[in-house]
Amino acid sequence: MCGIVGFTGRREASPILLEGLRRLEYRGYDSAGLVTGTGNELHLRKKAGRLAELAKHLGMHPAPGCHGISHTRWATHGGATDRNSHPHLNERNDIALVHNGVIENFAALKHQLQSAGVRFRSDTDTEVLAHLISHYYHGDLATAVRQALALVKGTYGIAVIAKAEPGLIVGARLGSPLVVGVGEDGTYLASDANALAGFADKVVYLADRQICTLTETDWEIRDQDLAPVSVSVADIGNFLGNGDAEKGDFPHYMLKEIYEQPESLANAMRGRLANDDATAHFGGLNLSAQQLRQIDRVVMTACGTSYHAAMVGEYLFEELARVPVEVEYASEFRYRNPPMDRSTVVLALTQSGETADTLAALRESKRMGHTTLAICNAVASSIAREADGGVYLYAGPEIGVASTKAFTSQVCVLTMIALYLGRTRHLSSAQGQKIIDDLQAIPDAVRKALECHDHVNRVAAKYADARNVLYLGRQYLYPVALEGSLKLKEISYIHAEGYPAAEMKHGPIALVDENTPSVFLVPRGNVFDKVMSNMQEIKARGGPVIAIASAGDREVSAVADDVIPIPDVPEYLQPIVTAIPLQLLAYEIALLCGCDVDKPRNLAKSVTVE
Ligand code: G6P
Repeated sequence: MCGIVGFTGRREASPILLEGLRRLEYRGYDSAGLVTGTGNELHLRKKAGRLAELAKHLGMHPAPGCHGISHTRWATHGGATDRNSHPHLNERNDIALVHNGVIENFAALKHQLQSAGVRFRSDTDTEVLAHLISHYYHGDLATAVRQALALVKGTYGIAVIAKAEPGLIVGARLGSPLVVGVGEDGTYLASDANALAGFADKVVYLADRQICTLTETDWEIRDQDLAPVSVSVADIGNFLGNGDAEKGDFPHYMLKEIYEQPESLANAMRGRLANDDATAHFGGLNLSAQQLRQIDRVVMTACGTSYHAAMVGEYLFEELARVPVEVEYASEFRYRNPPMDRSTVVLALTQSGETADTLAALRESKRMGHTTLAICNAVASSIAREADGGVYLYAGPEIGVASTKAFTSQVCVLTMIALYLGRTRHLSSAQGQKIIDDLQAIPDAVRKALECHDHVNRVAAKYADARNVLYLGRQYLYPVALEGSLKLKEISYIHAEGYPAAEMKHGPIALVDENTPSVFLVPRGNVFDKVMSNMQEIKARGGPVIAIASAGDREVSAVADDVIPIPDVPEYLQPIVTAIPLQLLAYEIALLCGCDVDKPRNLAKSVTVE
């Protein structure tokens, strides 16, 4: 979603700002802009569309100066137009601001400002901030920012500059991340440390309600009353993903990330499985064995793909650890007030660690006194820092907007936590050891599953014209059916629905005709025969069937129109292996539909607004 990069130092700012924004492109955006300062002038450049549009514009109208702020915008209030892009300026054009988040009381503030004669130039919520800061500005930007923010309800990460204070950037955060970077050539501000890789050596994260001031050679972080606070400065390397953020030989990040899964799964397990006591160990859970035993219910909360991983987690925890689980969309959970006793642990799942709804659900749970845990990929993200304990995925940066390797790693980590919980309860050491052996075989099984790519290509070519696709699975594979349909929707814009295979009779079967293929998840297992019956029901109504099935399964190939083979693994690990062909299928169909796989329309990698 929206991204911020600021720089003040001894080099031209605009190339640094553009490069920083380029690194945040993957988060999803629909316009981009920057403003630089040269003593007595602010140079504003902004464009709807991709960063390339802004770069082209800058080619014709350069923005000089060694001091500036920039932004990629994902539209919330007002369409994706040049006018609504950030930065926004005050009426006198001497203060400029970029903003991530949402100003919830912007309508009331705008009304007040308009009544006082202020003329607005955009439809955004952000612009009220530029005018408010301007109202309080009497030569001291930090003080004006502080006074303006006192009136604001909502979330923000902002960067502000003023013409009259060359070289100064003021930043502030509430619910939207900001990080100060310190490098040889100057001082940086960004919404994500990844934007600063190669520029800054040290980073400092702002906490909520803190305000920072940056100059060419110095920086300071203060509380909301502008009193200095002590902060910890860390090497930037600690906060960057441990994977390669470049595409290498792959045409898209998504494909690279699909193929990284044998490795990312091995990384998730590295050093965590112990044969000695046949269990898993985690450095950051921060729970004693006694506390672990006392957990008698877990509420898992998440959004999007992470929500589907949580649904698999429900089956895993209940089967392997016999701990009851409920899974809640974070956006719903945060506003519900469900009865939960004190021994309920809240587990947030999130790749980015910045999803606004998941963060809010976590905070609400903390406020209620629950122990909160997180399964997170982005190191030092807001959720990773605020949860009482957690487990990192160590999957490396996931850049493709459609989540792939984070899903399989989340399921892997959930399996390990279920093992850990189970071993404090009823699981014998022999059962624990069997789970460890099964898990250790998973990277190889995924490697084999990736060999289905040619089959997937054939199936994709045959069905790329479909306008509706059903995804059907049962038990552990019901959440995978949901995830497969989400992948297709996200990147090919084809309507798809995931359903528990048997439930399909209660509605979706009405959609079935010769143009509506159904993707069945039907590897061998407890419900195999049942799923085969559901498959017959679709065939009887003329619907084409694509089966994801155990390699060489003749019973399936006798019924299905097309079969994509996968290796056999124990049922509780089938979600990991069956996800692979579904990811590849969505990818190949999206390519055939001519879609921009890594940057699908309207979507953002990290959704930092409600
Ligand atoms: C966005 C992304 C999805 C992701 C979801 C939750 O919608 O496009 O791919 O699953 O957010 O993100 P999180 O970072 O919390 O897992």
